[in-house]
Amino acid sequence: LLASTLAIAPIAAMAADLTIGFSQIGSESGWRAAETTVTKQEAEKRGIDLKFADAQQKQENQIKAIRSFIAQGVDAILVAPVVATGWDEVLEEAKDADIPVVLLDRTVDADKSLYLTAVTSDLVHEGRVAGEWLVSEMGDQDCRIVELQGTTGSSPAIDRKKGFEEGIAGHDNLQIVRSQTGDFTRAQGKVVMESFLKAEGGENICALYAHNDDMAVGAIQAIKEAGLKPGEDIKIVAIDAVPDAHKAIAEGEMNATIELTPNMAGPALDALEAYLASGTEPEKWIQTESKLFTSEDDNQAIYDMKKDLGY
Ligand code: AHR
Repeated sequence: LLASTLAIAPIAAMAADLTIGFSQIGSESGWRAAETTVTKQEAEKRGIDLKFADAQQKQENQIKAIRSFIAQGVDAILVAPVVATGWDEVLEEAKDADIPVVLLDRTVDADKSLYLTAVTSDLVHEGRVAGEWLVSEMGDQDCRIVELQGTTGSSPAIDRKKGFEEGIAGHDNLQIVRSQTGDFTRAQGKVVMESFLKAEGGENICALYAHNDDMAVGAIQAIKEAGLKPGEDIKIVAIDAVPDAHKAIAEGEMNATIELTPNMAGPALDALEAYLASGTEPEKWIQTESKLFTSEDDNQAIYDMKKDLGY
């Protein structure tokens, strides 16, 4: 008994003493805000001192924050990288300072030795699920699709586009006729959807694929203002499964969404605590689940439940 008590004590003390820097992208979407909330809660629960830096969507601010965390001598760094490229130098600096870096929700184009692990969903898979859902929904019917892409150069925008194209491949009746970035925001989702409706004519658009729910919610507004019925005249599939998407599906204004958990910090901090306490190396990729929700689910109940969780 004594031996096990002694064995546990130093690990528990270490976790409580940890200082971790978190470079967050910003607050472009409901999902992002939820991830920030959950990360702060997870750190508090574990007695971790979390130093939070909001980069306001700018990579240069993230690089500055990471350099400042290194200068402060934090124990580890969490970073949700706004774009996929341009990280090598600052990740080298963290490595030289022996500070482990964990990527949250997005991947980077850098050597894997430069970070400890990445906690993300399979972003290509999410796009593929969205494409396959539309294929099954449309059958043989012709369908002209418009696509709202996420932030240009970000891994979810690149991978969700690729996955969707794979999902609809071989179904020549489905065609992406317009594709443009809406930067993962509600406001841009609406503006870009308005331009799609104007350019194509609303009645010529059969479906919208949005790389996140916030852009879909903005687009729903644009579709309504154009006198069309979202979810009926234009089918809508997106990604995240934030409460407002469940609400829109419950109200028949959206058709499907693929869930992305905002709790990336739980698995990330588990991995970091184990690594810092005993040197246990995690897998390079800790994959979170992706689940499809459609009108067949009880979306009102899910909305209520997620709202209670503080989304
Ligand atoms: O990286 C994850 C994506 O970033 C989410 O799908 C989106 O809502 C967010 O802003």
